[in-house]
Amino acid sequence: MASGARDTARGPALTLRRLLPHGAPTTVEQLVEELACPREGDLAERAAAGSGSRPYLVLNMISTADGRASLGGRSGAIGGEADKELFHGLRTVVDAVMAGAGTVRAERYGRLVRDERRRQIRRERGLAEEPLACIVSGRLALTSEIPLLADPDARVAIVTASPESLPEDCRADIDYVRAAREGVLDLPSAMSELRGRLGVRTVLCEGGPHLNSQLLAEGLVDELFLSLSPKLAGDDVASETLRIVSGPELDPPIALELLAVLEHDSHLFLRYKIIH
Ligand SMILES: NC(=O)c1ccc[n+]([C@@H]2O[C@H](COP(=O)([O-])OP(=O)(O)OC[C@H]3O[C@@H](n4cnc5c(N)ncnc54)[C@H](OP(=O)(O)O)[C@@H]3O)[C@@H](O)[C@H]2O)c1
Repeated sequence: MASGARDTARGPALTLRRLLPHGAPTTVEQLVEELACPREGDLAERAAAGSGSRPYLVLNMISTADGRASLGGRSGAIGGEADKELFHGLRTVVDAVMAGAGTVRAERYGRLVRDERRRQIRRERGLAEEPLACIVSGRLALTSEIPLLADPDARVAIVTASPESLPEDCRADIDYVRAAREGVLDLPSAMSELRGRLGVRTVLCEGGPHLNSQLLAEGLVDELFLSLSPKLAGDDVASETLRIVSGPELDPPIALELLAVLEHDSHLFLRYKIIH
């Protein structure tokens, strides 16, 4: 989903129609609260039920109605206000937010929860003020030009097979999850280390499409939150047209079970369970 999203905590509450299961209209805040509180079917309950030795992982992505995951190299232009609110709201219910280095570079990631009210909400939920930022990278082509990495108050875990470290002017509090199998990143081991050593129970993965493909292929994804934007964009003639999953064909295709559908201003918000 749109990682360049503006922090929109103080705007008037947006209303979403509950199409499935059918119910009274809701706000993003209420929706996120429902996800956070330990009741049957919500994120907290599903995470507690567990995914074995790894964290419970939710993908959060946005797409145009014809499947584009980026416009002009970024995702911000795809979304609307409700999508932006949900994007930030979901960050208030998880232990960690994960993104591929490509997304962190393209979207110039900064601090994950800047809004004081949302930080307070996280504290009230018994979480750290900000989620751990997990960046997956092979080449470690990450510099202090990325605001998140330059910020001494940010908590970051670099997930990599590389023995190298980031440059010293990356002032964030940086930990390394180094998991290699034959020289390449061993994602299942890395996820187990996140759970075991760093205590991460829930991960919100914000893409991008190439990381998603590998997480899905390794069976490491539990849910997909997909915002479907009422836009058609055609193909990108200048570079690769990205969809929410890019990479080798997933064969057989991964099956999804539809858990919920909401609507705001012709945007659809779909929640799927991944069938393992
Ligand atoms: N529509 C949406 O919801 C959405 C969400 C996120 C991003 N996007 C868009 O997607 C684009 C970026 O996506 P992307 O697919 O190119 O990038 P990505 O998946 O975010 O990142 C790819 C990079 O992640 C690292 N990586 C991923 N898997 C790895 C593995 N198994 N081992 C080692 N490193 C691994 C590599 O980093 P190194 O290069 O450092 O080795 C790789 O180049 C941007 O245009 C962004 O705006 C859209």
